[in-house]
Amino acid sequence: MTRPRLTIPGLSEMKRRGEQIVMVTAYDFPTGRLADRAGVNVVLVGDSGAQVVLGRDSTVAISVDEMIMLSAAVRRGVSEALLLCDVPFGSTELSDAQAVETAIRFVKEAGADAVKIEGATPERLSRIRAITAAGIPVVGHIGLTPQTAAALGGFRAQGRTVETATRFVTEAIAVEQAGAVALVAEAVPSDIATLATSELRIPMIGIGAGPADGQVLVLHDLLGMTEGHTAKFVKQFANIGDDIVAGISAYAAEVRDGTFPASEHQYPVDPQVVEAARLALVDAAARR
Ligand code: KIV
Repeated sequence: MTRPRLTIPGLSEMKRRGEQIVMVTAYDFPTGRLADRAGVNVVLVGDSGAQVVLGRDSTVAISVDEMIMLSAAVRRGVSEALLLCDVPFGSTELSDAQAVETAIRFVKEAGADAVKIEGATPERLSRIRAITAAGIPVVGHIGLTPQTAAALGGFRAQGRTVETATRFVTEAIAVEQAGAVALVAEAVPSDIATLATSELRIPMIGIGAGPADGQVLVLHDLLGMTEGHTAKFVKQFANIGDDIVAGISAYAAEVRDGTFPASEHQYPVDPQVVEAARLALVDAAARR
């Protein structure tokens, strides 16, 4: 059964109805298609793809071209969920004009429904206003903002002091006022995030922010495909990583012991064709 494609007004409508918004990341055609089939509301092509699928040690090095390639692949798999794409570090920092140009590329070349932009400094708010004025919906991202984590003192929860909690709630309102259609809040105590959620008119999607208008997780984290440290807010809902290793190991074992390919994996052929090929081979071998 197909669902009607979710729209930006549909997203706000979900908040009004008190319906939880489910967002998950995807970075290629098959994961986009599977997330869409699973019925999520928003598929995010996060710049976390730099680490999750490109193996880099941070999100900042991913380029617009790389993000567009990943996003366009996801787009081909997503027909019902809303497609949200991260604009990478360095692609909006210089000016509003640069930000609009980048956002337009995501819409035209990747088929993005909206773009996500981190931060709420006066410059970031100006970018949100400019992209919105160009007719492209923007989702904000505050709290822990990985692209500028160094300036925040590293990958640590935000909003745990009077100063950072005050900054968080003030930024939430400012991002809404700048025209964002939704907000992602990352790694913030739920008591602080809840204050903002109840005051905001736009939906707040949490990741490590407790209950909100919705949740987002990195697909590979929730499926158990990442190795090493995972953030406190990650819950693993499956163990696909171990399943993949088991599947590849079973394949390798059958190749090595000759069990695979079995007869059902081979193409049948008329014995006369085999005989003709055998004679042709003898002939070719004699002439080499
Ligand atoms: O890049 C990403 O995956 C994100 C989520 C963590 C919200 O921005």
